[in-house]
Amino acid sequence: MDNSKYVLETRDLSFAYPKSNHYLLNKVNLKIQRNQMTCIVGQIGGGKSTLLKHLSGLITPQMGDVYINGISVKENSKKSFHTEVGLLFENPEDQLYYPIVADDIAFGPRNLKLNKKEIYRRVIQSSKELNILHLMERETSTLSFGEKTLVALAGMLAMNTKIILMDSPEIGLDFWSKPILIRLLERLKLNHTIVMCTNDTSLLKRADKILLLWKGKIREEFVDYREFRSSLSKKGQDK
Ligand SMILES: Nc1ncnc2c1ncn2[C@@H]1O[C@H](COP(=O)(O)OP(=O)(O)OP(=O)(O)O)[C@@H](O)[C@H]1O
Ligand SMILES: [Mg+2]
Repeated sequence: MDNSKYVLETRDLSFAYPKSNHYLLNKVNLKIQRNQMTCIVGQIGGGKSTLLKHLSGLITPQMGDVYINGISVKENSKKSFHTEVGLLFENPEDQLYYPIVADDIAFGPRNLKLNKKEIYRRVIQSSKELNILHLMERETSTLSFGEKTLVALAGMLAMNTKIILMDSPEIGLDFWSKPILIRLLERLKLNHTIVMCTNDTSLLKRADKILLLWKGKIREEFVDYREFRSSLSKKGQDK
């Protein structure tokens, strides 16, 4: 462990999927400060989700390394970082395991061996915040896509991790649930580190920093949405 002041860091992180003939991530270097909200943008299939999985410790780096709270993921490849980092997958169906919603949200806290009262408290609190208390008894397989996103999000919140990674959380949300997500982000931003892949303007506007992942590298950093927007209009599609 080193004494890095960064909550998340990648150093020359490179990655290629098996059978692929190119590095999807090619010496990615990024540093994420505590309690900042960072958004990652980039082209379709550019490796944003793959990068997020690295930042969560889910993928062990092939080349280079990822540091979570200063701890090398490569040197601790058997360690699970689930008490430190929560990841909302791009497709919520990839993280719903239990047939009934309440059990699914309780899954993480149960794994932490918390007492029943605390598990119940966390399930209710996160469900209330996302306005999904009415779904508690439902079968997860029968939920709509947007409902699945909110249930997966509630399960992640119930873990109380200080680092939160969200992969395109806006997908499937409507005009009524998007403000719930934005309110949640405003609350989390006060004392959580958030990294999010998104193309959503209303979410990008809340970022402390926007990183452009392009052709395997962090090509540019923007201090806010305005700067990102004006760079887009200046450069058009010629990146
Ligand atoms: N398990 C896998 N095996 C092989 N190739 C994969 C695998 N997962 C993703 N890929 C490929 O790697 C590339 C990057 O995928 P990734 O999901 O990281 O991109 P992304 O930037 O998140 O895309 P999107 O904007 O569509 O969400 C894509 O071409 C994808 O098809
Ligand atoms: Mg993706």
